[in-house]
Amino acid sequence: MIVVLDFGSHFNQQIARRIRELGVYSELHPHTITAEEIKELNPKGIILSGGPAHIHADDALTIDKNIFSLDVPILGICYGMQLIAAQFDGRVARKGERTYEQASLTIKDGGPELFKGLSAKMDVLMSYGDVIEEIPAGFVVDAETESVPVAAISNTDRKMYGVQFHPEAAQTEHGSELLKNFLFGLCHCTGSWTMEHFIEAEVKKIQETVGDKKVLCALSGGVDSSVVAVLVHRAIGDQLTCIFVDHGLLRKGEAESVMETFTNRFNMNVIKVDAQERFLSKLKGVSDPEQKRKIIGNEFIYVFDDESSKLDGIEFLAQGTIYPDIIESGTATAQTIKSHHNVGGLPEDMEFELIEPLNTLFKDEVRELGTALGMPDDIVWRQPFPGPGLGVRVLGEVTEEKLKIVRESDFILREEIKNAGLDRDIWQYFTVLPGIRSVGKKDEARTYDHMIGIRAVHSTDGMTSDWARIPWEVLEKISSRIVTEVDHVNRVVYDITTKPPSTIEWE
Ligand code: XMP
Repeated sequence: MIVVLDFGSHFNQQIARRIRELGVYSELHPHTITAEEIKELNPKGIILSGGPAHIHADDALTIDKNIFSLDVPILGICYGMQLIAAQFDGRVARKGERTYEQASLTIKDGGPELFKGLSAKMDVLMSYGDVIEEIPAGFVVDAETESVPVAAISNTDRKMYGVQFHPEAAQTEHGSELLKNFLFGLCHCTGSWTMEHFIEAEVKKIQETVGDKKVLCALSGGVDSSVVAVLVHRAIGDQLTCIFVDHGLLRKGEAESVMETFTNRFNMNVIKVDAQERFLSKLKGVSDPEQKRKIIGNEFIYVFDDESSKLDGIEFLAQGTIYPDIIESGTATAQTIKSHHNVGGLPEDMEFELIEPLNTLFKDEVRELGTALGMPDDIVWRQPFPGPGLGVRVLGEVTEEKLKIVRESDFILREEIKNAGLDRDIWQYFTVLPGIRSVGKKDEARTYDHMIGIRAVHSTDGMTSDWARIPWEVLEKISSRIVTEVDHVNRVVYDITTKPPSTIEWE
């Protein structure tokens, strides 16, 4: 395993992931971890990552100095390299404004093993606010760019290496080869790590943590909570109980499919709470979007609380928190992008110990894990679905009649997108009921009925999106099926706005 220490750059999430892609297990840890704690993890190498701080600033991020004496290879990237230089009495100076640039790197003759097999010149992504002006005694300069004379350093006796550029970035040519040199040439990793190893290690960890105690899990049917439930079940079997709240705002067939998958296929204890009426009565007469969200979120917590208090002896709560959730909510070092809003956010005063085995993984890794656990594609590849569900797709007041229209039209949309083979291409697709009625004509008679909006977007993380260019003939089929098969709909429109300025959901 390789330990990556986090100094706050948003690139850092990529480092651990690139390493795992190369078949070596890697975990990101806060820079405050001690040398003793690292020793217990028994890593074959350590990476000191990049970060926005200046090395001499009052709030500069530091590490336990004993980490430099652990006798495992250390690679410093960007800020990490400057930290090594400063630690061994080199001179690091402020360059002025932080610079991001694509630069041509020249590797000096006989660069160390880190550059083995790489071409003498390569394009790299540089990002720096400080530069090394004088290297520490015992170190050599291995590479330079036109504007940065010290772009890579090493001290092979001490097994320490530093690069000012970002090998983990896609914009750096041969970045993976450089990481491979570090992992396999210098740290002697074997590269045999797979998701099966992750399962094995996590199962063991969960068993050790839980012992013979009981665990609870809030199952939503989404990818993350489903995968965590199956993983924990693999570890402790019937000591796990899942609570699945059907708030009546789910898509057509969803509640049935969740129950079928988890109870029949995986033989898990799932308590299904039919809370449709409870939610609908709370939402009656409410049309303000934020108020609706709040009501749904709070009600979810009350229902979960009610149900869990009926169970005896539960000490742990398993949650499907994944790495980007932690980043979005802000880590000790990374700046907050947005606060995570999830209907599964559970009461703060619940006295459970948390188990979060996915909190080092990215979404695509969670999917890979789900597949390795034998989970079906329709769960593993399920598109994102908001916690408040169809409650934010029926605009304005939510009623059973309106929910039915959204549910039926959404089902047709999903079916036709799948028939067209586009279900893995389009990130998210759904229908909305704006609550607008318009005049139409059916069987020679005038109608005054609802309009359905289709939303289909490409995105990588939901923060920005572009509308999907669904072929006309597919849209035509969807539209004609919706107006024919769904009662009280006589018009279909297609949303062609990007996010920003719009959002993906309409509420
Ligand atoms: P917006 O509408 O903000 O949505 O552009 C971005 C992504 O987030 C999903 N979304 C939510 N997910 N709880 C969630 O778990 C929520 O309250 C929520 N609101 C929006 C939305 O479906 C899209 O994928």
